[in-house]
Amino acid sequence: MVFENILLEKRAPLAVLTLNRPHVLNAVNTATLKELVIALEDCALDRTIRVVLLTGAGSRAFAAGADITELTQLGQADGREFAQRGQALFRQLEKLGKPVIACINGYALGGGCELAMACTLRMASDTARLGQPEVKLGIIPGYGGTQRLPRLVGRGAALKLLLTGELITAQEALRIGLVDEVVPAGELMACAEILGREIAANAPVAIEMVLAAVDAGIDLPLDAALAEEAKRFGACCATDDKDEGTQAFLAKRPAVWTGN
Ligand code: COA
Repeated sequence: MVFENILLEKRAPLAVLTLNRPHVLNAVNTATLKELVIALEDCALDRTIRVVLLTGAGSRAFAAGADITELTQLGQADGREFAQRGQALFRQLEKLGKPVIACINGYALGGGCELAMACTLRMASDTARLGQPEVKLGIIPGYGGTQRLPRLVGRGAALKLLLTGELITAQEALRIGLVDEVVPAGELMACAEILGREIAANAPVAIEMVLAAVDAGIDLPLDAALAEEAKRFGACCATDDKDEGTQAFLAKRPAVWTGN
């Protein structure tokens, strides 16, 4: 498949997915969303790919939001559908079964910040700027921003960003928990690759189960959430990787994972 708006480069165990519309600061239009769906499905099915790094082309932006030229055309019904399409993709990303690391190389605004929030982890360059400036356009976030931001940073800090539309620095994003790590701009992809390889060195099914347990349980009451964990702990105990991991530890040798 030849993509026009994104790049997909596989360097097993990593895949690097790049939003590739630098002339509009990688603003995400409908065509980009469609290509992302296909690329993510490809990464999900490819057993050699264990971690996906998601970034933006050029040095200025991860993504400066949904494409504002498309927003001008929307009425009530298609506006709602527009939001639902993006929400479905971001949910697909969250439920990929493999970690996706947002490598935030510049502006992550509006839909770009929402895309980063749907990723498993967020690493930002020290030059990055993040925000949800939708209220300045007369709209609200439609790709999950009003829901994931308060879950990530708490109600007060989220509402401050959502109501002011202000852009914050990478350091401020780190302080409030919107990003997990800030690194020098020139080292972003190298640092993300090190993190990706560290994760990819672990048991594949266990990684998938951690993601699934957190996703299933995070919004449940604790007892129900613990049941989600126990179910997946049991599933891990039935895997070859659990036999291999525990035996390798006791034999003081590195584990060799089959992912079964
Ligand atoms: N959708 C469509 N085009 C966008 C865009 C978006 N979300 N963000 C930037 N662009 C385009 C600009 O229109 C401009 O195109 P042009 O060269 O044809 O004029 C190009 O990208 C460069 O952006 P520009 O505004 O000239 O750069 P800047 O350095 O002056 O400002 C930003 C950078 C990010 C502060 C500014 O582009 C901006 O505010 N973008 C919109 C952010 C936003 O509101 N996102 C939420 C959308 S829901």
